[in-house]
Amino acid sequence: MNYIPIGRARQIGSMLFTLHWFDSIGDASGRAYPYRMETYDGEAQLTAEEPEESEEPEAGEPLPLPVAELHLHIEGTLEPELIFALAERNGIELPYKDLEELRSRYEFTDLQSFLDLYYANMAVLQTEQDFADMTRAYLARAALAGVRHAEIMLDPQAHLSRGVSLETCVNGVASVLAGSREEFGISTLLIAAFLRDLTEESALEVLEQLLAMDAPIAGIGLDSAEVGNPPAKFERLFARAKDAGLHRIAHAGEEGPPSYIIDALDILEVERIDHGIRCMEDPELVERLVDELMPLTVCPLSNVRLRAVDTLAEHPLPAMLAAGLNVCVNSDDPAYFGGYVDDNFAQLQSVIGLSEFDCVRMAANSIRSSFASEERKAELLAELAASGH
Ligand code: ADE
Ligand code: ZN
Repeated sequence: MNYIPIGRARQIGSMLFTLHWFDSIGDASGRAYPYRMETYDGEAQLTAEEPEESEEPEAGEPLPLPVAELHLHIEGTLEPELIFALAERNGIELPYKDLEELRSRYEFTDLQSFLDLYYANMAVLQTEQDFADMTRAYLARAALAGVRHAEIMLDPQAHLSRGVSLETCVNGVASVLAGSREEFGISTLLIAAFLRDLTEESALEVLEQLLAMDAPIAGIGLDSAEVGNPPAKFERLFARAKDAGLHRIAHAGEEGPPSYIIDALDILEVERIDHGIRCMEDPELVERLVDELMPLTVCPLSNVRLRAVDTLAEHPLPAMLAAGLNVCVNSDDPAYFGGYVDDNFAQLQSVIGLSEFDCVRMAANSIRSSFASEERKAELLAELAASGH
């Protein structure tokens, strides 16, 4: 069994994380931006401190479960510190005076209240380097969380509407994903997600542009405000994606009714459902999803923070597992929802007593439900089997 002390892992993690930021956020003269400097110093001091009691158990703790992260919006990984650092680098004045004020806005009442802040904070993403820095920061943190394969959504329309080109956002993210296996031990795929509160024409136009520029995308997704924007609105988009040989996924049953899940399956012919928790209101649908082994990428902390469920204790995940659904655990927008995939697992274990057996089962589900090659899936399943969990 492979153990390292968790406190040490976090120290290494925070060093890696800050060093990467520090490396890439300095300007050409090597000068670090003051905000980063402050953060870097803070982190450096932190890593030099004596570990807190609870962080350094004698026997150490097991390494996190090796998992595939299948539901992750790269823009949702923008941590408050990085938002301020990028704003400074790009000369953007934020409507918050400091981190504390920004963090005070992370009290969401529903999906839309989150989306308003999520889109507003994207203003700091201006250059390819910004997109690359954000992606690198996520991968550094994800590696510590046990992520070994990640399928990462990018919202191109959210950047185009701000005057940021497709090349800037796609190339910035893709340039880092291209080396993610070597740099972080994480194989990755990029998924272009379309905003369902915009028109299908807009989505089709952007998809054609992505295809014309030979963007390295493995598939398309459907996200943003769900209620009132049913899957049927995007029938032609998904048909075009299928025609182009792309994988297809869609958010459904996060806030929207079970009928949206049915339509995503029947009309959009999706291969995975993002969230899908409201399927539990329709026993016939549950039976169908079980029969079809349809993957549901569940995001427990997200559901609590966006009030799709009242508390983690009331989350339907245990019932979904009991029903035999093909569920896995994901972080959605970890910078906004209080944690990465390891934090989701940790809270599921501590708050609802989810068993190690169920965690391993969902880790295996995540690997099998990914769009990775059969060879990569076999490698990851073997890693999971050998992980000691
Ligand atoms: N975009 C980013 N996060 C999202 C979520 N949880 N639901 C829908 N769209 C999103
Ligand atoms: Zn999502």
